[in-house]
Amino acid sequence: MATNAEANRRYFDSISDSYDAKPWFAKVNAQVADTLRSRLDWLGIPFANTGASTETKDVRLLDYACGTGLMTRAFGPYVTITRGIDISPNMVSTYNTRMTSTGLSPDIVHAVVGDLFDKSNPSPTELSGPEWHDFDLAAVGFGFHHFEDVVHSARQLKQRLRPGGVLVINDFLEGGDVKADEQGRMIEGSEGNWAVHKHGHGHGHGHGHGHSHGDDGSHKHDHDHGHEHSHHSHGHHHDEAKHDVTDNSPEFRKKMNDSIVVPHFTIDGVKNFLTEAGFVDVDVITLDERSYMDFAGKKLWRTILIAKGRRPVEDREKSEL
Ligand SMILES: C[S@@+](CC[C@H](N)C(=O)[O-])C[C@H]1O[C@@H](n2cnc3c(N)ncnc32)[C@H](O)[C@@H]1O
Repeated sequence: MATNAEANRRYFDSISDSYDAKPWFAKVNAQVADTLRSRLDWLGIPFANTGASTETKDVRLLDYACGTGLMTRAFGPYVTITRGIDISPNMVSTYNTRMTSTGLSPDIVHAVVGDLFDKSNPSPTELSGPEWHDFDLAAVGFGFHHFEDVVHSARQLKQRLRPGGVLVINDFLEGGDVKADEQGRMIEGSEGNWAVHKHGHGHGHGHGHGHSHGDDGSHKHDHDHGHEHSHHSHGHHHDEAKHDVTDNSPEFRKKMNDSIVVPHFTIDGVKNFLTEAGFVDVDVITLDERSYMDFAGKKLWRTILIAKGRRPVEDREKSEL
């Protein structure tokens, strides 16, 4: 498994218990859900239960990098079937436990462990059935800053959509952070990029299709591959120590930073990588208000962007070759 994927599995396996347990996460969840629900028209596919004349009976959602299910909850009222995929077994088990406990049957919503971005296994057998194709909507919540090659990732997700289906993602806007004080109040004049401080080599180019990152913060870009602890790299994820997301220790910070490829994106950067991946009707919006977060001892107000792109309607024949 690629180093970046393993770093993500390790990090998220270790925080699955606390990932969304803080009161501030509920706010983030609500901010994202409210925005998406007020933008169903913008997404441009027929949803269920909207009362609109375009309403449709079956709407299938793929929540990729589903974690504990933020996107699943946001779209839940307006879709009929949801499937989740995540690389972290612990996140998947939290997701499935939550969904079952709300009374939803696995037919309606369930997630599996998987990775569609592993270039050595681009079409995993366990994700090859019809259940895993032809989605009306694919959603990725706060995932793209963890992905090694965003063009490849977007392309892989496009293949899981029906022609005309839509990908929606959210992530962080470059330059959109404001520092918070101990009480969580915004510190005036601290606008900038504060999420990840990496002692990188200063030029993140030269890794193939990931080049769109160059526009999006390559000065912070350091895959850190050389520093991966080999004794952690062989799938011992079930033994992973548990951490609280607010853990301030250098070990935890490193674990978190290793999972992140870029801390944020520019609006043009996102438009470019979605377009390069073959999406049309690409658009990006930002949330009106910043969101408070407290990861690894960093209290920040961050600006969230939401992007969408449509798989071209005439795309079917090409993709099925
Ligand atoms: C920040 S969390 C977001 C979880 C959830 N979507 C949300 O919005 O709260 C990122 C998730 O991406 C998953 N992830 C990272 N790389 C992945 C990959 N290559 N394939 C599938 N999931 C991945 C992690 O395990 C983690 O659950």
